[in-house]
Amino acid sequence: GFNSVHVVQVLESTNKYLLDKIDHLENGQTCIAEYQTAGRGRRGRHWVSPFASHLYFSMYWRLEAGIEKASGLSLLVGIAVVNALEKMDVQGVQLKWPNDLYYQGKKLAGILIELNAQASDVCHSVIGIGINVRMPDHQGKLIDQPWVDLNSIAGKTIDRNQLSGLLIKELHTLLADYEEKGLSAFLPRWFELDCFLDKQVNLIVADKVQGGICRGINEQGALLLEIDKEIKPYIGGEISLRLA
Ligand code: BTN
Repeated sequence: GFNSVHVVQVLESTNKYLLDKIDHLENGQTCIAEYQTAGRGRRGRHWVSPFASHLYFSMYWRLEAGIEKASGLSLLVGIAVVNALEKMDVQGVQLKWPNDLYYQGKKLAGILIELNAQASDVCHSVIGIGINVRMPDHQGKLIDQPWVDLNSIAGKTIDRNQLSGLLIKELHTLLADYEEKGLSAFLPRWFELDCFLDKQVNLIVADKVQGGICRGINEQGALLLEIDKEIKPYIGGEISLRLA
């Protein structure tokens, strides 16, 4: 069965809310907020979180196999989000390695996974998902990259409760599958959704730019980049990917 969902009006960050309670959580426990005063993005950036506009969602999940399963986690979560959106008739959303969702070149959603792996065996993870649903005009101006929201893609009002329910269900199913079968079971789906597949890209690793052709991912969740007819895997948090 599904565990409880904490719906909170105002908090700093749904990720922080669960991280603060991490020793007392059950698998699948979820937090959703209407407003975040300190929404967290990747690389310590702020995640714009206006009141009652978007989905701010976090789920606790313990990876019994430990930290080595964590590298593919964001890719799997991206697939779960796309699946939930497709169930609401939102089509054409794509994934950008390692954890962004795009629609026609504009950012729709982001994933921030925070890990607590004190114990050597189990890895505690908080899976944070922020999805733009209805961007207020004055807020959109604060975002320093092209963005899009669900209501404009769908041409109708997307029900955040329905979306949350579908997302919880999808995450439960896919995370259980992932723990059992690993990322290899999801590779075909990733290749279907990868927005950069077979495109010329630039990979930025520690301020250095590496050009190449994107050839998808491997079973560890590493990005595969073809450079001079040779395919090399790239993995790690400090890498970003751009269209060349
Ligand atoms: C990114 O930088 O693309 C990741 C953004 C993740 C934002 C979500 S909103 C819900 C959860 N709580 C947070 O503080 N951040 C994530």
